[in-house]
Amino acid sequence: MFIRNAWYVGAWDHEVGRDMLRRIILAEPIVFFRREDGTPVALEDRCCHRQAPLSLGKLRGDIVECPYHGLRFDQTGACVHIPSQDRIPAGARVTAYPVVERNRWIWIWMGDPALADPDLIEDFHWIDDPAWGYGGDRLHLEGNYLLLVDNLLDTTHLTFVHPTTLGTDDFASSEVTTRREERRVNVDRWLMDRPPAPFHKRMGGFPDGANVDRWQLATFAPPCFVKLDVGSALAGSGARQGDRSKGVSMMNLNALTPETQGSTHYFWAQVYNFKIDQRWMSDLVRSQVTKAFGEDLAIVREQQRNINLAPRPTIDLQQDAGGIAARRIVERLIAEEQQGTGKVAAE
Ligand code: FES
Ligand SMILES: [Fe+2]
Repeated sequence: MFIRNAWYVGAWDHEVGRDMLRRIILAEPIVFFRREDGTPVALEDRCCHRQAPLSLGKLRGDIVECPYHGLRFDQTGACVHIPSQDRIPAGARVTAYPVVERNRWIWIWMGDPALADPDLIEDFHWIDDPAWGYGGDRLHLEGNYLLLVDNLLDTTHLTFVHPTTLGTDDFASSEVTTRREERRVNVDRWLMDRPPAPFHKRMGGFPDGANVDRWQLATFAPPCFVKLDVGSALAGSGARQGDRSKGVSMMNLNALTPETQGSTHYFWAQVYNFKIDQRWMSDLVRSQVTKAFGEDLAIVREQQRNINLAPRPTIDLQQDAGGIAARRIVERLIAEEQQGTGKVAAE
């Protein structure tokens, strides 16, 4: 069960070209490609004849040819040619999905096409804003996307899962505030006057022995977005009052597109607004975040394996308030969609 009337990230812009790309999203096979004029297209990657993947076929201009018996489809999904007969039967079509290219991502609408308003796309402008540099990638998780939402909203795990990059001994005890809105959850954490995390120390060039005030302000938006405003500034320099000039400021941007109930396409970008012309900075961001996220994927994968064995009661702690609130929003929107009472997810 997924929220369907929503924009999801389907691919990075550079992943989609004139070669057909197969990707399963919300348990549906999709084929992405670009038309000759560069416009991205997403069709169901399952021929309406005998379900062969179209992505294994040929792209003839803007027309897709099935690899099995040669049926051809245009970018609206309509069958336009059958080699063995002249008559094209009613129903000879595959689903065509609304697609928008924005902020270096290819967005796909998985629900009712009549509701696919591009204004509902979640804001990720930082990724192609020239004032920010970024490192980013796509990872694959053998686990449900909401386990990653829990992970990103409960960063008490930093101390234990990321000791060499993001964690410090006492981050688990940082001050936390959780705020719930109808379609947003905010989890704010501050840790004042403590040694910086290894990654922040390298990026910010903080002197040895200096303490920092560290912030981590997370926002969840349905169906699967978590954005974290993160950074550290020299202790007492006024970061909490709004002056971040004595530190490093980054946005950690995550789009957790469900592949199936038990697997996730993890699109992420980490953007920063200092030393953006220096290549070592983007290399450092990319390598440090990739290392940290690999650690997350490893623990979440094992968590999912245990969940798959048998249902078990679990306990909730105060730190779980954000994840629980996010799940409530998702459950509510799925129920509203199924009852036909809901507005679309990103409104
Ligand atoms: S399965 Fe595609 S043409 Fe037969
Ligand atoms: Fe993590």
